[in-house]
Amino acid sequence: MTQRELDMNNLPAHVAIIMDGNGRWAQARGMNRLEGHKAGAESVRIITRAARRLGLKYLTLYTFSFENWNRPRLEVEGLMLLLRRYLEGEVDEMMENGLRLNAIGDLDRLPKATRKLLDKTMDRTAGNSEMVLSLALSYGGRVEILDTCRRIAEECLAGKLSPQDIDEAAFAQRLYTRGIPDPDLMIRTGGECRISNFLLWQIAYAEIYMTAKYWPDFDEAEFTAALVDYQGRQRRFGRTGEQVEVSAR
Ligand code: IPE
Ligand code: IPE
Ligand code: MG
Repeated sequence: MTQRELDMNNLPAHVAIIMDGNGRWAQARGMNRLEGHKAGAESVRIITRAARRLGLKYLTLYTFSFENWNRPRLEVEGLMLLLRRYLEGEVDEMMENGLRLNAIGDLDRLPKATRKLLDKTMDRTAGNSEMVLSLALSYGGRVEILDTCRRIAEECLAGKLSPQDIDEAAFAQRLYTRGIPDPDLMIRTGGECRISNFLLWQIAYAEIYMTAKYWPDFDEAEFTAALVDYQGRQRRFGRTGEQVEVSAR
């Protein structure tokens, strides 16, 4: 089977990835789960570079979920250490490549040292505008929606917002992802066919691509294959295929 070529004129603006399968990748090699996370960090570097080179504007990576706090303490600590190493090791390249680092999630729950380094890296890259790299950390889609509802209720109580003005745009402006367009493509590695509480509001019309490849095995060729697959889809947004064809002419 010959694979279609990537069309550089039809790239998604925003790709979101559920980076799953680090643990199973390690276990299949008789290694410790943390070795899998370490290998996964390498995939993060490779895919971020590839996304930037292609000119994607937004990349969002599910790095640590709100539910992942329930993992064994040693695994959580290992992940936080890896995150700090990643931030320290990548900041210069982020500057060179014009990447702005962003974080979404319940960041107050992160260990102090991690939070501090995260804030420092976000500050340092704040003026960059080529691509926004968002790390979802301590992130849960339902918590995000609840936080947004709470914020809206407070604004209403304070008389700053009236209930009639709560539309989709007003809601989206109060999500953690405010200012970032909804993902066009959502990739999940590791073979599971579920959303696991990721970007529940934002993926309403995302194209979903699942692959059995574990995240540490997800390389540039796999990423390109996902983008090519995306380009073969017809995004109808509720309309008929004919209507979409007519409006594309
Ligand atoms: C994804 O890999 C990374 C995180 C959730 C932090 P997993 O650690 O979930 O790997 P599997 O699913 O157990 O293989
Ligand atoms: C989703 O993976 C979270 C991240 C990739 C960070 P999980 O491994 O936590 O998801 P479940 O528990 O299998 O649904
Ligand atoms: Mg998993």
